[in-house]
Amino acid sequence: MALNTAEHAVPAPDGSHAFTWPNPLFGTQSNDWPAFQRRLLALCATRGFVPEILGYTDDQPIYLLTRTSSNEKARQILIASGFHGEEPAGPWGLLHALETLDATLLEAVNLAALPLVNVSGFSQGRRLNHKGENPNRGFLPFLDGAPASEEGDILMRHHALLARLGRDGALCCHEDAARRQAYIYANEHCELPGALTRSLRDCNAGFFPLHADGVIDGCTVSDGIVFNHPDSSFEAWLFAHGSDRTYCTETPGQCAFEDRLLANAAMVKAFVAFHA
Ligand code: NI
Repeated sequence: MALNTAEHAVPAPDGSHAFTWPNPLFGTQSNDWPAFQRRLLALCATRGFVPEILGYTDDQPIYLLTRTSSNEKARQILIASGFHGEEPAGPWGLLHALETLDATLLEAVNLAALPLVNVSGFSQGRRLNHKGENPNRGFLPFLDGAPASEEGDILMRHHALLARLGRDGALCCHEDAARRQAYIYANEHCELPGALTRSLRDCNAGFFPLHADGVIDGCTVSDGIVFNHPDSSFEAWLFAHGSDRTYCTETPGQCAFEDRLLANAAMVKAFVAFHA
């Protein structure tokens, strides 16, 4: 299937629709995995991240980046993106944030990143991986019966490591290809959305209109927030494994790519700043 560059294309419900956008900030296309990988490894060299490879899917690596602060009391946070291939503003926004994050902020936390989990989907601009699996389901299969993916199996094999790296908080950068409005999912140990939930929601709302109150994919959304909804996602799995708070941000895939990239970068920076 030819890649569709229209911003108003309607995504197929089975995830087969391919999306790609010009990515002028990085001088390439949104699905350029070789360029993304080059820039990621350059980032490691210049900003003190240590790259490792957790495993391979479709012969491509799943990178984990870690950076340890010299401050022994620094909090330990994890940021992940690129679970769904038609949501490329997440990985590029995370990369942009890590490249431009204030050096004092960067040094104030222990920061780990899974910058691009679903490389085969990203390269194709398609939601699912090369086997048609959903890489953000199957982590807690007793909740919804969803099967795990090849990428999910690799992440779950590293459960102790990832749970430790996301101990004080985890942020997952997603997009919703079908919408023109923003919203977020949040998991916190409290009855009402806390300060970081509201901060991430407000950050997203600085770029896009918020989704109206109602239901999204079976979840109740209120004030742009789906709060403490149990599912078999990676972020719910980390929360179940002891992470203090986990989030999934959703930028609207029907809006301009550069705005979505900058919104993701802004939310990453807000997440880091909260833990600094
Ligand atoms: Ni997604």
